[in-house]
Amino acid sequence: MTAPKETFLADYQVPAYLIESVDLRFALAAAQTRVVSKMQIQGNPAGSGGDLALDGEHIELVSVKLDGRVLAGNEYQRSDTGLLITHVPERFTLEIETLIQPDKNTALEGLYHSGSLLCTQCEAQGFRRITYYPDRPDVMAVFTVTLEADKTLFPILLANGNLMVRGEASDGKHWAKWHDPHPKPSYLFALVAGDLHCQQDSFTTQNGREVALEIYVDHENSHKCDHALRSLKQAMTWDEETYRREYDLDVFMIVAVNDFNMGAMENKGLNIFNASCVLASPETATDDDYYTIQSIVGHEYFHNWSGNRVTCRDWFQLSLKEGFTVLRDQQFSADMNSEVVQRIGDVNQLRIMQFAEDAGPMAHPVRPASFIEISNFYTVTIYEKGAEVVGMLKTLVGNAGFRKGTDLYFDRHDGQAVTTDDFVAAIEAANDVDLTQFKRWYSQAGTPVVTVKGDYDATRERYTLTLSQSCPATPDQTEKAPFHIPVTVGLLDKSGQVMPLQLEGEVAEEPTDSRTLELRDAAAEFTFINVSSEPVPSLLQGFSAPVKLVAQQDNDTLAFLMAHDSDNFNRWDAGQTLSINILLGLVADYQQQRALAVPELLLTQIAAVFVLAESDPALVSRMLILPSENYLAAQQKVADVDGIHAARTHLRKTIAQRFKAEFEALYQSLNTQKKYDFNADDMAQRDLKNVCLAYLMATGDPMQTQRCLKQMKQANNMTDRMAGLRLIADQAGPERETALRSFYEQWQHDRQVVDKWLTVQAQSNLPDTLIRIKGLLKHPAVSMTNPNNVRALIGQFCRNNPVNFHAKDGSGYAFLAEQICQLDDLNPQVAARQMGALGAWRQYDAERQALMKQALQTIADKKSLSKDVYEIVTKYLADK
Ligand code: PHE
Ligand code: ZN
Repeated sequence: MTAPKETFLADYQVPAYLIESVDLRFALAAAQTRVVSKMQIQGNPAGSGGDLALDGEHIELVSVKLDGRVLAGNEYQRSDTGLLITHVPERFTLEIETLIQPDKNTALEGLYHSGSLLCTQCEAQGFRRITYYPDRPDVMAVFTVTLEADKTLFPILLANGNLMVRGEASDGKHWAKWHDPHPKPSYLFALVAGDLHCQQDSFTTQNGREVALEIYVDHENSHKCDHALRSLKQAMTWDEETYRREYDLDVFMIVAVNDFNMGAMENKGLNIFNASCVLASPETATDDDYYTIQSIVGHEYFHNWSGNRVTCRDWFQLSLKEGFTVLRDQQFSADMNSEVVQRIGDVNQLRIMQFAEDAGPMAHPVRPASFIEISNFYTVTIYEKGAEVVGMLKTLVGNAGFRKGTDLYFDRHDGQAVTTDDFVAAIEAANDVDLTQFKRWYSQAGTPVVTVKGDYDATRERYTLTLSQSCPATPDQTEKAPFHIPVTVGLLDKSGQVMPLQLEGEVAEEPTDSRTLELRDAAAEFTFINVSSEPVPSLLQGFSAPVKLVAQQDNDTLAFLMAHDSDNFNRWDAGQTLSINILLGLVADYQQQRALAVPELLLTQIAAVFVLAESDPALVSRMLILPSENYLAAQQKVADVDGIHAARTHLRKTIAQRFKAEFEALYQSLNTQKKYDFNADDMAQRDLKNVCLAYLMATGDPMQTQRCLKQMKQANNMTDRMAGLRLIADQAGPERETALRSFYEQWQHDRQVVDKWLTVQAQSNLPDTLIRIKGLLKHPAVSMTNPNNVRALIGQFCRNNPVNFHAKDGSGYAFLAEQICQLDDLNPQVAARQMGALGAWRQYDAERQALMKQALQTIADKKSLSKDVYEIVTKYLADK
């Protein structure tokens, strides 16, 4: 095949034509939909003029009219990717009629059919599958949309903005006309038609605007909207209080759809959500689901300002809206729940997923320089690292300074399509700081390594921290210039008390308990004065920068920090580092066929953790969970999947047996039959209870299986039921089959629960897992065209089941290759997203490397590969 074209940031040019307004008329039907688009177009004074180029794919052109005159075939050129209209005037009206087939659309981009619904997904480049249009975010137009459809099949007709009029038509049809007064790029366009339940509420903004809130779901899910609605109101209030952002239309709608490529989409006034990110009831959703729903509802709502009112100039700026909005949703979740739990979760995800991306063949900067398929760049780097970068800006200028900066950003750029440079410029201007060097975080890929050395001078009572930085090469960038890195530190004395900090050479300010040091050079020294005894440093508090810290702290020091650090995040982190050290030691024992010996030091520290169970159950459960197998694998030169699994299992069992009495007592005290409520305290208690249950299971005591079954039977909520099922699914025996079967029988009518049932089976460490998955792919409840099913079975197996996915015989790899080839014909975006598990092939032993490469080659050899999969497979195979 001919290599698909690469797009470069450096080639950016302003649009030649601008669209003032567009009037869209849809005659909707699942088999064929007719679209008439009437655009008011004018030359861009800043542009280069010339021919008018419109994007368009997978659509049938019926006619083109310019200022009312039908164009002859020689007045335009059509290709697979668009339409070129030659000799256009300065200002004109263009009317284009096209036909599309929603029924045949399994890519779920553009207009498609999901269940009995018709809905759209346009980000990033889906609008071009609906009509010919300049489908780029810097073309912003006012949209008016008229939908016409069968009244019985599609009683609900929704589009962006406010409803203007609706009416009856002939042949059992009806119509609705929507108008969105805010100019927007085409990627924010949306429509929905279907037979849906509408859950209504309202919100009054700080300036008294009455907003109707509407959540649309399948009728059978009408009782599952309350949590999303409550989250939406929390988000609206929070954004007014925290960022002074107010909503700007008369109605805010959320629609839940069953087939969706991502989590959710922030279309103006009409958010479309994956049903799994909206629907919740205590009986069917876990605490994690509740938590995710709250954060995604917040995320999409926050986009109304960070993304919609101020949008991206081009797709290289994707993190402008995503990084900032993720930071906003993280702050929101922290404020609604627990700050430290939120931070631990975010850092864990960043380290496990983003550090791996940065270390692999798809590494790219927060602002990439090129792409083949933009859908491949909705990554943890753009989202999560992007959020860390904005978070560092906040740390550097302080909370008040950051708010001044974001106020200025929103004021300056309201209604514009801008760049990450514009964002940084607003922070600079509002705070009178120079962030030129800081901007390297946007342009340089890779995870910096920060090395720290401490030196105490007892006679002069001085303590010097020497910080140095380096960053490994990434595929397109061998040389890296130093980053501007905020490193927040504290000092503890030998009894664990924080010591007041005063830097040498600074005008004596009030000494503080923690300080943010700014590392700008390859290396720098920071000297604290009046340090009366040798301190233990607490480094990178709150994970103040997305870096790998090399602090050469021995296990005793880590144990001390785990017990005493004044920063709770760092207590957890010290425990994780200590556990990693010990686990890697156990892997070495395993490799050398020695008995696995767990050092007493760790067990002593764990004993101390139990003391906090009552005062801070959330922190305790975080501290009791060992680092994941994937993260451990990333710490090794050559990842030893089996050794890691053996070591981690052994450590879990050792902890379980040593503290069996403690786990028992805690489980009993936490296992109350309280009515389910979603709040941080109750969630922390359920979480800790289920961590205890998992350890009790790890003792190997058969009684505990009965306890899991009992919990499943008696639970009044899905969190506890799933915790039981997950443990049982990981243990061979007759109970497993019975539990899985009866669980399915009970919940087969609920898609979200069925996906959980698939997930626990895909994640099971038992050796029959792949066979089971292959069977499940033929299960009547499973469809390869449903992304949630694919993610639950294939995604979970490949990403979160390392022992089975990396089976020595290569069966996991071959399975994935085969699935990707099938998926690629149905849904390229979803296919490409499953590739991740093969990206780190360099990390494994020679035999596995060969097998992984063979799987990649199978994919590369497939005929008519999508751009999506092509880009990833070529980058993976080119890894050196
Ligand atoms: N913009 C969406 C979000 O982050 C994600 C998304 C991207 C959804 C592309 C669909 C398609 O909120
Ligand atoms: Zn987003």
